[in-house]
Formats: sequence, C-alpha cells, structure tokens
Amino acid sequence: MSVAIKNADEIAKMRVAGRLASELLDFLTPHVRAGITTGELDRIAHDYQVNVQNVVPATLNYAPPGHRPYPASICASVNHVVCHGIPGDKKLKPGDIVNIDVTVIKDGFHGDSSRMFYVGAPAIQAKRLCEVTFDAMWRGIRAVKPGATLGDVGATIQRHAESHGFSVVREFCGHGIGRQFHEEPQVLHYGRPGTGLKLQPGMIFTIEPMINAGRPGIRCLADGWTIVTADHSLSAQWEHTVLVTDDGYEVLTVSDGTPPAPAAAQA
Ligand code: MF3
Ligand code: CO
Ligand code: CO
Repeated sequence: MSVAIKNADEIAKMRVAGRLASELLDFLTPHVRAGITTGELDRIAHDYQVNVQNVVPATLNYAPPGHRPYPASICASVNHVVCHGIPGDKKLKPGDIVNIDVTVIKDGFHGDSSRMFYVGAPAIQAKRLCEVTFDAMWRGIRAVKPGATLGDVGATIQRHAESHGFSVVREFCGHGIGRQFHEEPQVLHYGRPGTGLKLQPGMIFTIEPMINAGRPGIRCLADGWTIVTADHSLSAQWEHTVLVTDDGYEVLTVSDGTPPAPAAAQA
C-alpha cells in the first residue's frame, strides 16, 4: 500500500482543481430549485465545465472495474439516494434534500467536492441530518494533522453521527486523489482512534461521509450506479478534498461560495 506525498507543484495544481470544483458548485447553487430536473442541472454543469472552466468532467464515462460507464457530468442524489444518483427527468420538489457531487480535471489533476441543497423549506429532521453530516465532515477535517491516523478521522465522524441517532454508510469511503480520481488511501468514515494510516504532510484525500437517518444498509439500483438506503430513510453527504500540511490541514475545494466551517465547539 503506497500513499503518494504530493510535491509543491502537484499541490499547486490540486489547489486550482479544488477551487474549480467548488466554483462549479457555487455556479449550480441558484439553479437548485423546485421544478428543475436533475438532468437539466447536469446539462448546465456540463456546459459550464467544458465551455467556461475548461475542465474535464471526471465522472462522465468514468468506468471503474465492474461498472458500466457513468453517464453524466455530476452526481445528483435526492432524499433516500445515498450517492451516485444519475441525473434524469424527475423534477425537484419543495422539501427535497439533494446532494450534488462534482469532480473536475484541470491540467491532469482532480478536484472533488459535494454539498447538500434544500429545495424550498426542509423538514426539521431532514435539515438536522444535513447539518449533522456537515458537522461530522468538519470534525473529520479538523482531525487531520501529521501524526494523526485515518482511524482518528473516521472515529470522530462516526461518534458525531451516531450521537445524533444517525448511521454511517460503510460501503463507500473517502479516497486519495491527484492525477487519479480514486487513489490510495481509503478514508473510512468510521473506525477506532489511533488505528490505520499515519498522516504525513503532502497527502491529499477526500473526506465525504454518507450519513443515513435510519439504518446504515444500502442497495444499488438496476442502473448499476444509484445507491439508495435499504430502509428508504433519508441520506446526506458532504465532501471536501483536503491536504495534510505541516501543522494540520488545508481544504482545497474552496471558493467564494463555500459554506463556512462551523464553530469549533459545535462541530
Ligand atoms: N465524486 C464521487 C466521489 O466522491 C465519485 C463519483 S463516481 C461516478 O468519489 F461515476 F459516480 F460519478
Ligand atoms: Co470523492
Ligand atoms: Co465526489
């Protein structure tokens, strides 16, 4: 198992890719409204990436072993969809919660980020789920520093989610990222403190917890991609791409519209 340590030039390029991923989410934000279809969001996102940002949509035709090519330029996961929702002709409606996950390739390097969006006013439990998932991601990010372990990251995410009665999806994890979309290490969103890979400056990986309101179990739909909760409970996810620095972390997927980090006491 080898985890790359990125050099200064690679880190500079990852900053650019990360900013572009975040700016794409900023651009999409006003479009995420009742009445639009996720397919329309995908087309808008595709055109912006290709014509304005001059990036390659990393998800389009992405085909890891055992998968058919992913057919879209974003993932749009609504309500009980956990991740990898394929955009389609269903309209968003008031009360929906939606994860939009984007990955762009700029100059050979990947930036990967996702956010939750409310369509109209969310139900109290749905809002709570999205907030707890955001805070869980930030707890994980704040655990990142040289000498800490991936178990520290996973454990703090798991503790936060479960303390609110929610559950952590086990089948999908964060990942190293760079010239490849998915590199080593795997970043589990659960675990035991002090276990697993020891972090070193120059490592870059995503932290992207998927948190379910009900049971942790999932299943995959017949399209081969869309992951839903087995019990049909709501699911939320947030994702940032993070660099291990000499004294902590740097979030690479930042732009003017990035939701601010929660107060430390809360998260
Ligand atoms: N962006 C997702 C991640 O965070 C991966 C999506 S792969 C796709 O790792 F093919 F479903 F788009
Ligand atoms: Co990712
Ligand atoms: Co992603």
